[in-house]
Amino acid sequence: MGYAPQATIDHAALRHNLKCARKAANGRKIWAVIKADGYGHGMLRTARTLKEADGFAVARLDEAMRLRGEVVAHPILVMGGCYTQADLHTASIARLELALHDVQQVRLLQEMEPPQQPLTIWLKVDTGMHRLGFNHEAIHSTAELLSKSPAVAQLNLMTHLANADDRNDPATHAQCELFESIEHTRFSHYSIANSAGLLGWPASLSNWVRPGIMLYGASPFFDTRASDQGLLPVMTLHSRVIAVRHCRNGEKVGYGGSYICPEAMTVAVIAIGYGDGYPRHAPTGTPVLVGGQRLPLIGRVSMDMICVDARVLPTIQMGDEVVLWGKGLPVEEIAEQAGTIAYELLCGVKQRVAFIDQNEDEEG
Ligand SMILES: Cc1ncc(COP(=O)(O)O)c(C=O)c1O
Repeated sequence: MGYAPQATIDHAALRHNLKCARKAANGRKIWAVIKADGYGHGMLRTARTLKEADGFAVARLDEAMRLRGEVVAHPILVMGGCYTQADLHTASIARLELALHDVQQVRLLQEMEPPQQPLTIWLKVDTGMHRLGFNHEAIHSTAELLSKSPAVAQLNLMTHLANADDRNDPATHAQCELFESIEHTRFSHYSIANSAGLLGWPASLSNWVRPGIMLYGASPFFDTRASDQGLLPVMTLHSRVIAVRHCRNGEKVGYGGSYICPEAMTVAVIAIGYGDGYPRHAPTGTPVLVGGQRLPLIGRVSMDMICVDARVLPTIQMGDEVVLWGKGLPVEEIAEQAGTIAYELLCGVKQRVAFIDQNEDEEG
């Protein structure tokens, strides 16, 4: 493999994080959210390890169909729903559950030839995010229409939280209250909580929860680390030192020469760049971990390389292993430095990075 970057996926950490979700859910059922290729960890490998979840949630039909090939028995929820008759038929044959957020999707269902396997529909109510979903005033009439459709086997109700990552924001309470104010009798199941709801907002637990980011060992809250919630990082992105340079005082490092050596210093070059998914906007000072020691990135991130200030580690040499995020270096910290969120970094790891599975067996 040479000195190319690798993403190690720790399946024991994935199982541990699901157990944390189980504990917090306190008897509620769990949709493990594995859209966007399992938040960049690989959807199928993630599903295999998370088989103790009660179901899997993805965003799109093509994700669900790929998943159905692997996961035969579990319920699969398509959170974006379907947009054509052909897709509705595909979903029905594959026994997918569908979110439904728009009046056009209602029409599509009404016009559907009664399928052999009628569908379970999760009607989405907009409780304050103003992205997808029906206004709460329209829920009853919409549910009425759907309950008359032979294409619908079961009707459930869901919403999505906009601000649950901030435990002081009253918007989440308002969303939960609005959800609860909708008469529940015509629905069989309910779902509100994402990871932040599950860990921070008991009022959002409903009877199905939908954790995503916490399963991968990153914090859903803007002001805490995953370890504060007892979560373990699943992905560790690592690479190796490919050069050690001794630069003179005043020499400029990397594209644009934005970093100027303040003295004679050791600079290490590491095989990772934005072509691998490392954030190009990570500024000088963003830490990497070499032999347990934090070294600051210097200068611009290139496509295939970054440079770090190795003054505190004069013994550094070509081939030394470097952790970019994961075990020992929270992905949230790198995201903060780069002005983004852990979700984006995890989802953004590119295909040219080799994925290594670790602790796939239960004993791990
Ligand atoms: C509708 C819906 N539910 C649940 C989730 C999971 O959210 P999180 O990863 O914050 O737990 C998402 C993710 O974006 C989502 O779009």
